[in-house]
Amino acid sequence: KRSRVTVRAHGSRIDRWARVVIVEIEETNGVAVLTIDNPPVNMGDTAMRTALAEALDKVAAQSGLVGVVLASAGTHFYAGSDISEFDRPMQAPQLPDVIARIENLGVPVVAALTGLALGGGLELALGCDLRIGDPTTIVGFPEVTLGILPGAGGTVRTARLVGVPSAIDLVGSARRVKADEALSLGLLDEVVPADVLLARAVERAATLGAKNRLVDRPAPVSDETAVEAARAAVSKRARPNVLAAVDVVCTGASLEGREALRRERALFDELRVTDEAANLRYLFFAKRRAAKAVRSRTPAPQISAIGVAGAGTMGAALAGAFAARGYEVIVFDSNRAALDRVADRSGITPTDSIADLGRADLIVDAVFEDMDVKKSLLREVEPHLDDTAVIVSNTSYLDLNEMASVLTVPGRFAGLHFFNPPDRNPLVEIIRTSTTDERTLAVLSAVVTRLGKTPIPAGIGDGFVANRVYADYRMQAEFLVEDGASPAEVDAALIELGFAIGPFAVADMSGLDIAWARRKRLADTRDPRQRYVDIADRLCEAGRLGKKTGAGWYDYPDGAKRGVVDPRVDAITEKARADAGVTARPVTGDEIRDRVLASMVCAAAGLVEAGVAQRASDIDVALTEGFAFPARLGGPVRALAQRDRAEVVSALEAAYRSCPVSFAIAEPAAAGEIPDTIEKILEAVR
Ligand code: 3HC
Repeated sequence: KRSRVTVRAHGSRIDRWARVVIVEIEETNGVAVLTIDNPPVNMGDTAMRTALAEALDKVAAQSGLVGVVLASAGTHFYAGSDISEFDRPMQAPQLPDVIARIENLGVPVVAALTGLALGGGLELALGCDLRIGDPTTIVGFPEVTLGILPGAGGTVRTARLVGVPSAIDLVGSARRVKADEALSLGLLDEVVPADVLLARAVERAATLGAKNRLVDRPAPVSDETAVEAARAAVSKRARPNVLAAVDVVCTGASLEGREALRRERALFDELRVTDEAANLRYLFFAKRRAAKAVRSRTPAPQISAIGVAGAGTMGAALAGAFAARGYEVIVFDSNRAALDRVADRSGITPTDSIADLGRADLIVDAVFEDMDVKKSLLREVEPHLDDTAVIVSNTSYLDLNEMASVLTVPGRFAGLHFFNPPDRNPLVEIIRTSTTDERTLAVLSAVVTRLGKTPIPAGIGDGFVANRVYADYRMQAEFLVEDGASPAEVDAALIELGFAIGPFAVADMSGLDIAWARRKRLADTRDPRQRYVDIADRLCEAGRLGKKTGAGWYDYPDGAKRGVVDPRVDAITEKARADAGVTARPVTGDEIRDRVLASMVCAAAGLVEAGVAQRASDIDVALTEGFAFPARLGGPVRALAQRDRAEVVSALEAAYRSCPVSFAIAEPAAAGEIPDTIEKILEAVR
């Protein structure tokens, strides 16, 4: 017997068009199979929950039923709740109501899990009486990364099924668990080949006989040391919602099941409406919007071999990142000694013959950051390449249009800008030149996806998007020091904002010499009206190039990991202030945070206005992903957008006054106005 429940969905964020959620019910020999069909990822939105609840009510009223199977029509069982609904009051039926229907059914329910069962999807499965997976099954609780915790029994039922220590790990770490591990943990009862998953689920549903409600079980007694170890592993530098989630797992395990469910849901409802959770949801969608913007309509050709030109630190790290994702990698460097860096790595072929790059479908330029060096590489490599090969440059600052001009086929060229360290930093800028063609963009988007990176689109401009905004952040930090703050005060104020480490400690780690060389290079072209703080130059002149020389903005006695405040830096700073005619004054933490934020937002507005950045949310993605700006604030633009008008004006005015030339865009703030260009981007991210 077949029937179906259809519910028309509207109003959801991913669904501005009308969409129909279907739950098919097919009954054979007393087993009803409920197949959920809610593309693209079988997400749990109101329409889906309504359809599922109605389908469950239908089967509950049926006589002669012995079991039910819950399955999905798509690639994924259920990728979690629709997080765009979390911005509004939740609509009935909510997920706990749907799960209660499953538990209240008189017959056992078997979940047939294929693909992802995340968040609410795993919770739904845990409400069933048995869970069968296939080799593609992946389960996990991503909730804590969204500033919340599982809210439909995830903490309660998991602790009862796999014990408190494993539940703490799963809920607190948000890690995804593959089928094999899920089976050994006990989250899955069986893993079978995908083609027999449904048949096996039907067979088990027909013969199971009894219900097995996890909520009614006591949690297995757990060893206190294991509990403490699990707690410690996820608690290090954890956000408050993670700590709360861990507490809920622990207390829930000793409470009566339904009481534990009530407590979990109450905390979920509290966390769901926090600014932090809203900002993390904002970033979730911002990343997807950015990824969509770099996706091409042209199908991407297959890329199997990647050539990296330049075996320096960046080239070697990129080669490693490509090889780790299964690409065949050829690394070219004319300096044989440099090739030693990559010689022993699997999947990487080093060569000092440029002709060998001809085998690659994609060439990545990671040679020395100098226009002439880059141009001669491009000229030399192109004749060896197939017509279809794509070339990208990983330059941070050079003009990509000028580079493209030396190629016979400039359409095959674009910028692909990685951030340090490229094997771990998720951000990548995809930069289109004025001649880049669609096919090239399709290749880049596909490669970036395979690397698991977060792309943003960028146009041509000094420092593109992320480095440009970061440069103003750095510049403002130095203005603050010249005005009277100490580097340690600036670092501390920004750590309080949520950065793991402040800009001066970062500078010491990366070394002060590269920026020094760049400043010297640009000295002749600098606008003389622009405020120029020369403290860093003085530090470099004194041989203080950062941690590697034992001293920079801080001192590192005997190779100390963390810098200590050094009176010699104070002396250098005081001298610099005196030479610049600046009288030091006390600077508060609030002023530091306001000026730094406002400076980044000024840079962001300039980039959007110039079309170098496509949208303000891309900048928030860039700074949170690439430079560890605190994600709980949503990014610099979103963070300022959430302040009230008077605060925004005063922060912009302070940035403007710190250097009217650099922050000219904020001039109206000096007259109490928010400039239109800035108002526009603040409005766009609210
Ligand atoms: N809510 C809203 N929209 C979602 C969504 C979700 N949970 N998951 C995916 N989408 C949307 C995306 O925005 C995108 O929409 P678009 O095409 O209009 O841009 C579309 O679905 C496809 O998603 P992706 O582009 O991300 O596709 P991928 O195949 O790359 O990735 C995925 C799929 C791994 C499922 C990824 O989307 C993801 O990680 N989703 C979030 C999963 C999650 O966090 N679930 C838990 C939610 S919280 C919860 O369940 C609370 C519960 O405890 C009560």
